[in-house]
Amino acid sequence: MPPAPPSFGSQEYWNMRFIANPVPFEWLEAPTALDPYIIDALKEIEAPNPQLLHIGCGTSLLSYHLRAHVEKPSQIHNLDYSDVAIKLGRKREAEIFEAGWSASGEEATSAKPDRNSLESDQEKLSTPATSTAANSPSSCMRWSSANLLDHSSLLRTCQASAYSIVVDKSTSDSIACSDDLYVPLPYHVVAASPQSMKTNVTESPEPLHPLHIMAVHLALVTKPGGRWISLSYSMNRYPFLQLPTPESANGSSQPMQTTASVSQAPQQGTAGDEAESNDEVSLDDDLDDIPVKVLKDGFPDPSTLWKLVGKYDIEPQTASEATKGNETTHRPKVSHWIYVLERTNVPLYIRT
Ligand SMILES: C[S@@+](CC[C@H](N)C(=O)[O-])C[C@H]1O[C@@H](n2cnc3c(N)ncnc32)[C@H](O)[C@@H]1O
Repeated sequence: MPPAPPSFGSQEYWNMRFIANPVPFEWLEAPTALDPYIIDALKEIEAPNPQLLHIGCGTSLLSYHLRAHVEKPSQIHNLDYSDVAIKLGRKREAEIFEAGWSASGEEATSAKPDRNSLESDQEKLSTPATSTAANSPSSCMRWSSANLLDHSSLLRTCQASAYSIVVDKSTSDSIACSDDLYVPLPYHVVAASPQSMKTNVTESPEPLHPLHIMAVHLALVTKPGGRWISLSYSMNRYPFLQLPTPESANGSSQPMQTTASVSQAPQQGTAGDEAESNDEVSLDDDLDDIPVKVLKDGFPDPSTLWKLVGKYDIEPQTASEATKGNETTHRPKVSHWIYVLERTNVPLYIRT
């Protein structure tokens, strides 16, 4: 019998994993893989002080890399339901950035969000400053442990409509492995004014897929027009969202881009190969439609809250590296996918 697959949807699994292996670990891709999409989103959104929510940060170096995209580190909120990962992340940030990044006196907060500084950021991360000058609170990122599938847990640390960008590096993949959940109807978060909702609360006749629930929770904390940038191994991670055709894309004459290949160098010492060879094969992609009755009885339809504005395949560097200089090795092409979702204007309310 094959060994049981790891429980990627279990909090205990992640805590045990981070205790056993506290060193940085990258899922799927190096932290730089999301850069072009984050840069593009920041340009499009043009918010004066954009807040970035990094969901399921784990022990990825992406948390620190994100600092290069913003003026102040406090604009970045790293979140995970593993408090082990959150404690490690906070401690590592203090170790890396205590004295600023460079001996020349340039501070971490002065990094410009362009490609060059983003690339050199990785070098800086590998050579942390040794001085012990104290950090002011605004030079630190926010770190919170919260469960993305529990709206009250999330709202204890995140404000409604606060974030311009949600950064998701394989966290949706992990959420997709969580158990389906029964929810109250009307749901805690509703798309119509709570006054117009039926007052007796019942349990959903069947459990809902966790990605539907997370999509509603993320919509609650994201500003209208904000972006959810998601890296996944799955080519159909959000089946409830359709990529618009060129004609339906708001009069735009540009065809939607679906296959922009981006080469990325993996972080030295990352363990993406382990993820690809052992872990990904067992992940669960089943996502049924939400029953109409559940929508009618007060669960917000995620397809009205988000629209898919881009889907791009990126060729994992690990696969192409493996064939370099070894013409007899033939591995099938493996793609990873970047999804860019945009929050619609449909308002959400919290049912009290
Ligand atoms: C596949 S790992 C990705 C980690 C990191 N983003 C990376 O790229 O290396 C998934 C992460 O999501 C977190 N996670 C899973 N389910 C979660 C939930 N319901 N709420 C908050 N975090 C969750 C796990 O603890 C883990 O750190």
